[in-house]
Amino acid sequence: MDKESIIILDLGGCNSQLIARKIRQCNVFCEILPYNTDIEKIRRKSPKGIILTEKVEHTADNISSTCNHNIYELGIPVIYIGELIEHINLSKEDSPKNIENLKDFLYKTCGCVGSWNMTSYVDMSIRQLKEKIGDQKVLCALSGGVDSSVAAVIISKAIGKQLTCIFVDHGLLRKNEADEVEEIFTNQFDVNLIRVNAQERFYNKLAGVTDPERKRKIIGEEFIRVFEEEAKKIGRVDYLVQGTIYPDIIESGVGKSGLVKSHHNVGGLPDHVDFKEIIEPLRDLFKDEVREAGLVLGIPKKLVNRQPFPGPGLGVRIIGDITPEKVKILQEADYIYRDEIAKVGLDKHISQYFAVLTNLKSVGVKNDKRTYDYTVALRAVKTTDFMTAEYIELPWDVLGKISKRIVSEVEHVNRVCYDITGKPPATIEWE
Ligand code: XMP
Repeated sequence: MDKESIIILDLGGCNSQLIARKIRQCNVFCEILPYNTDIEKIRRKSPKGIILTEKVEHTADNISSTCNHNIYELGIPVIYIGELIEHINLSKEDSPKNIENLKDFLYKTCGCVGSWNMTSYVDMSIRQLKEKIGDQKVLCALSGGVDSSVAAVIISKAIGKQLTCIFVDHGLLRKNEADEVEEIFTNQFDVNLIRVNAQERFYNKLAGVTDPERKRKIIGEEFIRVFEEEAKKIGRVDYLVQGTIYPDIIESGVGKSGLVKSHHNVGGLPDHVDFKEIIEPLRDLFKDEVREAGLVLGIPKKLVNRQPFPGPGLGVRIIGDITPEKVKILQEADYIYRDEIAKVGLDKHISQYFAVLTNLKSVGVKNDKRTYDYTVALRAVKTTDFMTAEYIELPWDVLGKISKRIVSEVEHVNRVCYDITGKPPATIEWE
């Protein structure tokens, strides 16, 4: 199975990831490599075919000079996919005219049989992890997000209790989230899970801090410290798990993959955890494939289809300083928002949606008494890459119901607003 692959050599085309996904959807494994990858490295991977992606058209000659080697000496089919698709070294009849013809290229021209699928990939990964890890110990920082959850479960299926997961509750998670994560990993998967209730510690460090980047830094650093302290109690481990996924590692010719994630990676790796190697069980998978792998592994749909949630959590959704009281207000408002959106089935059509506790207090009236309470803002966006986003036109009746519930059920909120700004100029998060 691992023999049957296609390699995309990225000459700066913006479509590489899209094409790679389409190839995998045709049940053929596909990797993206930089245009100047050493020819021997390519040969060792024994691909069945090569695809070159570029914006402008190349001829066979100038591709070879750009790539610093003659890819045709590999003796396998090579095609070029640009804005216009040009056939380079195949006979005219085989020439793929557009991507619709990708299947023909894969199956007829390259002779692929299409044996790649998520179930066999997961089985193969479990077998390989078992072999690699043997009887050694593995440590994983579990956030409850999709990537770390799938990574933890796949490793746990391979080595069981040799894996220890540390789950830090920093007090900035959504309502019930920490309990849900604990329940899934201990009851359903029987994972060795250490839950650290570090809420107070984070609230103390964050007290009075208003600057968003400072908040991020404190949360990231404190997270590492808590993780290190717990890891020390376990002693030496052999491997540390990272939930790196494919778009984070693609080294493209001119690509900017993984920009969103690296931009927000404030915590970094722990300095004081004794391990010999990082293990990255998801490094070959795109995000939607990670979700598919999660389902194959039996992780509940609710967790697998989770919307992105920032590492600093509600810390960047509470404008200004953070207090336990504000966290509670936001958790309740956000819970109602998510509950109502799920009830009308809109959750499947929105990329990210959440409530924000603004720092604005305004005058209101409740039970004939004057109030002076917070304004909650609601945000819902549609996006493919999170670099740009459009706001969603939520139905008025749904918005109205959410607003009514929030102001009547959540104390200290007397006003609800809906954010109708795209990115740019606004970011998705408010901080
Ligand atoms: P922005 O707000 O920059 O967000 O438009 C783009 C995406 O990144 C997420 N985000 C973060 N993720 N740590 C994270 O792990 C962070 O500090 C952070 N800030 C923003 C945001 O939720 C959105 O999906």
